[in-house]
Amino acid sequence: MELFMPKNIIVTGGCGFIGSNFVHYIVKNHPETHVTVLDKLTYAGNLENIRPLLGDQVEFVHGDICDAALLDEIVPGHDAIVHYAAESHNDNSIADPEPFLKTNVEGTFRLIEAARKYDVRYHHVSTDEVYGDLALDDPNKFTEETPYHPSSPYSSTKASSDMLVRAWFRTYGLRMTISNCSNNYGPYQHVEKFIPRQITNIIEGIRPKLYGNGKNVRDWIHTEDHSSAVWTILTRGKIGETYLIGANGERNNLTVLQDILRVMGQPEDAFDWVKDRPGHDRRYAIDSTKLQTELGWRPTHTDFESGLRQTIQWYVDNPQWWEPAKAATEARYKAQGQ
Ligand code: NAD
Ligand code: TYD
Repeated sequence: MELFMPKNIIVTGGCGFIGSNFVHYIVKNHPETHVTVLDKLTYAGNLENIRPLLGDQVEFVHGDICDAALLDEIVPGHDAIVHYAAESHNDNSIADPEPFLKTNVEGTFRLIEAARKYDVRYHHVSTDEVYGDLALDDPNKFTEETPYHPSSPYSSTKASSDMLVRAWFRTYGLRMTISNCSNNYGPYQHVEKFIPRQITNIIEGIRPKLYGNGKNVRDWIHTEDHSSAVWTILTRGKIGETYLIGANGERNNLTVLQDILRVMGQPEDAFDWVKDRPGHDRRYAIDSTKLQTELGWRPTHTDFESGLRQTIQWYVDNPQWWEPAKAATEARYKAQGQ
């Protein structure tokens, strides 16, 4: 196995939830690697997520991944791009798909063109949602061989971007790897997403909201485990390969919400049922055998309850971080009947 030790990487979307956790992970574990964060600071990006890290090791560039001239300026001199930037929320993609096409498809196209032009290694961060969903009682999980079958505007744009990256490998020999990860939880996640929405609702005295019948299953992974997996793939992955990232964290939404309510001292039925998401995927489940056996990666946050407790504590301790986005997010949901 060849080891690639990046010295100077671009992290797109490094002010979002998972990207900023990845920058924290690098600063903590790989002080020899310089990071240029490229982020447009959309509603989902927050410079505060990485502000304490800015300095010799971490630099911030405010810009759009769709801006080819900007990429010509900043990509040369870097040895890798790790691409997190995206429009990432399913519900928003149902309300207005256009920004998803722009950032997720065109943005990826601009980045892989720049990676090709300047011969820079490229890691593409994607989602298990490209595979569509599984029946609740299906004994199978997603593997790298599962056919693509995305359901939502969000997941179809992520699937499109994966296809572009694969074609650029085959046609142009782009030095790429792809990872498809399951649902992340942890600090710095926007309050529009399921777990932070319910935690911050409870803090604010708003009843949590559960879609449909609450039986939909997500395969939860702590964002720090996602970061260590991406680092493993970037440094040890085989060019042209796809790796699935997951930590055997399957749980239905009702169970997760009841865990949150219990930890926060609320009755387990203190929530509202709201209308279901159109096209709502039933279940995601990841088989990460390839990543574990070929690259030796292992998750460390294997106790969901304790990871959830830490995450709840983070939102309790950091109201200044999430309060500015809370009212507008809830107003948007209310207008959708959710
Ligand atoms: P996020 O919405 O929290 O952050 C996205 C970041 O990208 C923000 O900082 C935003 O400002 C930036 N951005 C958006 N458009 C941009 C543009 N045109 N140019 C530059 N920057 C732009 O998203 P997240 O949840 O951290 O997800 C990050 C990546 O991980 C995405 O590619 C997503 O598909 C993937 N992913 C997410 C999950 C999950 O559970 N959240 C799971 C698997 C994969
Ligand atoms: P979400 O965090 O939006 O992630 P994804 O759509 O990528 O899986 O939602 C996770 C699950 O929680 C999904 O099944 C939808 C459900 N959900 C609710 O039940 N209530 C909510 O308020 C939200 C935001 C999501």
